Amino acid sequence: MILVKSIKELRTQVELWKNEGKSIGFVPTMGYLHEGHGSLISKAKSQNDKVIVSIFVNPTQFGPNEDLDKYPRDLENDKKVVSSNGGDLIFAPEVKEMYPSEIYTFVNTSVLDNNLCGIKRPGHFRGVCTVVSKLFNIVKPHRAYFGKKDYQQLAIIRKMVEDLNFDVEIIGCEIIRSDKGLALSSRNSYLTDIEKEESLVLNRTLNMLKEKIKSGITNVNELVKIGEENILTEKSTKVDYLKIVDINTMEDVVEVDRNVLIALAVYINEKVRLIDNIEIIKE
Ligand code: PAJ
Repeated sequence: MILVKSIKELRTQVELWKNEGKSIGFVPTMGYLHEGHGSLISKAKSQNDKVIVSIFVNPTQFGPNEDLDKYPRDLENDKKVVSSNGGDLIFAPEVKEMYPSEIYTFVNTSVLDNNLCGIKRPGHFRGVCTVVSKLFNIVKPHRAYFGKKDYQQLAIIRKMVEDLNFDVEIIGCEIIRSDKGLALSSRNSYLTDIEKEESLVLNRTLNMLKEKIKSGITNVNELVKIGEENILTEKSTKVDYLKIVDINTMEDVVEVDRNVLIALAVYINEKVRLIDNIEIIKE
C-alpha cells in the first residue's frame, strides 16, 4: 500500500495506473477509519482495479463551534483498515496542500440542503462539496463511494455530480453498525461505554418507527412525537432533529405516502452529536 501526501505524487501515480488501463475507485474520508469506511473500501475494490482512500479533515466543512480541533486522528490504524480492505493508496494531504491560500471559489448547494443537517450546520455542505470537487479533480476516479450513514451528503453529492458534469459514478453504500446496532462513526470514540449503550436508542427508535409505519400509522407529527419520546427515555439524550422527509428531495412530508427517510441527530450528554437514518421504501 502506498501513502502519498502531495497532489503531484498522487497525480503521477493515478496517471501511471490509468496508462496501464486500470480503473480507479475512490473513497473520500476524514480518517479515524472503522469498518463503515472499510465496507466502502472493499466495495470499491470489488468494482475497480485500484482503490484510493483520501484522509483529510476538511476545515471548510466545520462550523466555528464544531469539533475540528479535536476531531480524532490515527494514521497508523487507518493504514491497517485501508490495507485489510484491499485499498491500494492513501492520499493524506496537509491542510496547506489542499488550501495553500485562502480560497475564493466554493461549490454552493441549495434545495437539498434546506433541511436536516443542512440547516443545523450552516455552510457544512458547501465545505463538503468544495472539498469533494477538489478531490475529484485531483484523483479523477472512475467511481466514488459514499455511505448512506450521511444520507443527505450522498444525495447532495449525487446532484452536484449531475449538475456540474463530473465524470464519476457515485455509488451509495449501506450503513454499517455495531453488533448492537449503533451506526459506526469516528465520533463514537468520544463516547464512554455507558454512553454507547445509551446511544443504541437512536437505531431502536428508527426501527420502532419503521414498525409503526408498517402497522398503519402514517401521520408524521404523530410518528415524530412517538420517536422523540422514545429517544428521551435515555436521560443523556437531547434531540437536535427527528424528521421524516421525501427520500429524493429531503423535504418534510406530512404523511408517509411515498418513499421516505427517517433521519435524526441526537446529542449525547450535550457533547457528542450523532446522526442516523433509515430508508422506508414502499412495497
Ligand atoms: P467521514 O465522516 O470520514 O466519512 C467518509 C465516508 O464514510 C462517508 O461517505 C460516510 O458516509 C461513510 N461512512 C461513515 N460511517 C459509515 C458507516 N457506519 N456505514 C457506512 N458508511 C459510513 O463524510 C465525510 O467523512 C466527509 O464529509 C467527506 C465526504 C470525506 C468530505 O470531507
